[in-house]
Amino acid sequence: MLVFAKNKSIKHKIDSLKKGTSIGFVPTMGALHKGHLSLVQRAKQENDIVVVSIFVNPTQFDKKEDLINYPKTIDQDLKLLKLMNCDIVFTPSAEEIYQNKIKSQLFEFDGLENQMEGKHRTGHFNGVGTIVKRLFEIVTPKNAYFGEKDFQQLQIIRKLVEKFQMPIKIIGCEIFREDDGLAMSSRNTRLTNKHRNAAPFIYKILKQAKIQFGTKNALNVVQWVENEFKNNPLLELEYFEIANEGTLHSIKNKKPKQKYRAFIAVFAGKIRLIDNISL
Ligand code: PAJ
Repeated sequence: MLVFAKNKSIKHKIDSLKKGTSIGFVPTMGALHKGHLSLVQRAKQENDIVVVSIFVNPTQFDKKEDLINYPKTIDQDLKLLKLMNCDIVFTPSAEEIYQNKIKSQLFEFDGLENQMEGKHRTGHFNGVGTIVKRLFEIVTPKNAYFGEKDFQQLQIIRKLVEKFQMPIKIIGCEIFREDDGLAMSSRNTRLTNKHRNAAPFIYKILKQAKIQFGTKNALNVVQWVENEFKNNPLLELEYFEIANEGTLHSIKNKKPKQKYRAFIAVFAGKIRLIDNISL
């Protein structure tokens, strides 16, 4: 496994690959868990070589405290990637990516950026767009793998490659969960015991919401979920929305032949968790 920290050296390596070598790319912010590794495994199966990037991207954090406290486990990450037979790891510094100007480019993602996470985390998707576009330019993958855990991000990346006409196939991968249903996340390690034990409630409610959506309209399901969280003192609901998968616009009533998904953001103490379920 090769590890590069400089744009020039990874580009040089990628340029030296035999023509036609397919590159599968998995961008991450490290603190790797089985969810990340499931993306790496899929990329291994579908490509000649796999590149994983590890970079805690400062421009996508709206809160300084969240950036500072984001878990960093680089030695462990490299061990895990080696075990997965990952070929290349890219671990740039902020300076390498942004030079001396840590600033986002501004994007228009046809309104996808104004829903849910975009509403609650100012500038987040400009930061994500900036780093992913930059990494795509450096790594030039054939296929890039993103988790449905961050479904809005996945749709925005699809829009990014469409808008900039990048010849990259974006592949969405299923959410990987703990045995108790909690969606795996690097932030889970920061939960207190009390909040960790409370957190599986999120997926339990999503599953019940899915059942209810079979017979009720969206507005009723939303009200039911909001009430459930009012009765849970350990988890504070930020939003629960039922939205069209393509536009991410939230709906009150469903229409036939549309794909819908329920999206949720919850504070478990100071830690913000997100999850979603296809309906
Ligand atoms: P990060 O949170 O490290 O996630 C990297 C990738 O792993 C994302 O595509 C994310 O959706 C996926 N992932 C995380 N948890 C998952 C789970 N439980 N099951 C399946 N996939 C999961 O997302 C980012 O980093 C950043 O925004 C990034 C795209 C790297 C840009 O900085």
